[in-house]
Amino acid sequence: MNLDSLVRPNIRSLAPYRSARQDHLEGVLLDANENSLGSVLPLAGVALNRYPDPFQRKLRNALAEREGRAADEIFVGVGSDEAIDLLLRVYCEPGTDHVLIPEPTYGMYRVAASIQNAVIDRVLLTDDFHLDRAAITEALRPDTKLIFVCSPNNPTGNRLRTDDLLWLCRQAPGLVVVDEAYVEFSEAASMAMHIPSVENLVVLRTLSKAWGLAGIRLGYAIAHPAVVRSLLKVKSPYNVNALTARAALEGLRAADKAAAMVRRLREERERLRASLVASPLVVDVLPSDANFLAVRFHDPTVVREALANAGIIVRDRTQEPKLRGCLRITVGAPDENNALLDVISRLAEQRP
Ligand SMILES: Cc1ncc(COP(=O)(O)O)c(C=O)c1O
Repeated sequence: MNLDSLVRPNIRSLAPYRSARQDHLEGVLLDANENSLGSVLPLAGVALNRYPDPFQRKLRNALAEREGRAADEIFVGVGSDEAIDLLLRVYCEPGTDHVLIPEPTYGMYRVAASIQNAVIDRVLLTDDFHLDRAAITEALRPDTKLIFVCSPNNPTGNRLRTDDLLWLCRQAPGLVVVDEAYVEFSEAASMAMHIPSVENLVVLRTLSKAWGLAGIRLGYAIAHPAVVRSLLKVKSPYNVNALTARAALEGLRAADKAAAMVRRLREERERLRASLVASPLVVDVLPSDANFLAVRFHDPTVVREALANAGIIVRDRTQEPKLRGCLRITVGAPDENNALLDVISRLAEQRP
């Protein structure tokens, strides 16, 4: 597959903005109209008066090392949401190119595709929320530039089968984006290991979930260098700020802490599941490889309102295809989960 030929023609011929810090990060820096005296906010180790490295070399090197990939296969953005947006902007000609989104899944793919005015072809996942090969085969078109899938899938929680994902990459005339925001909570290995042999595969990852760093807004894409080059070409010059880059680098050094939190959350997830499954209010709890559970209730509105009255907020997914009755519940800290289970068991006692 010629990855560059998938890029929108105007992006292919675009001469990207050249920013000052692209070439020089050290020396007597009189090239970017920064404040040469310093900053109102001196923070140890972060020169806040300077624009950050537009190519985020240190951070991309650290992520590359962690992922066992090369730095030119890593794009970092303001959350993985930025990568989703930029992929659409690079590859989808507004009003013309198609995007395939097997649903129910993470809602940002549809929103970002709509903003780009890409033509969205909708297919559904199977009843057990796996890829429906027949439906996908029928929906694919020569101008399907991007396919967005999520594994483990938000909001259902299950991970997709590796053989289905590799099949999808073989069928796709464009890129297959596998969003692995929750992969650390699953037993499965990342699909990123397939990137050297599957050039149209793009894997999205984030520090927002397992690493507990949603506040810094740092996500990344792992992809063929040609895809990364295209994303770098269109991103805003200083998309990842110096504080975020610093926090991300420090965070990555605390991998043991992330792993310990993941272990605890997985234990809590199973405890929560066991209690919910036993509740008479619950129809079923969908299998989850993530840090949340999709729970089908007989009467989700009553449950959601009772929880809200106790100050506990969960996500209503009842309007999503195939998710009638479902609330999405993030696995909380132990006392938060106890509080949630308490409300549910009290509600069950009150109801006939
Ligand atoms: C599947 C999925 N992808 C991406 C994101 C956004 O991640 P980030 O915080 O890196 O933008 C979320 C957030 O909920 C998500 O559920």
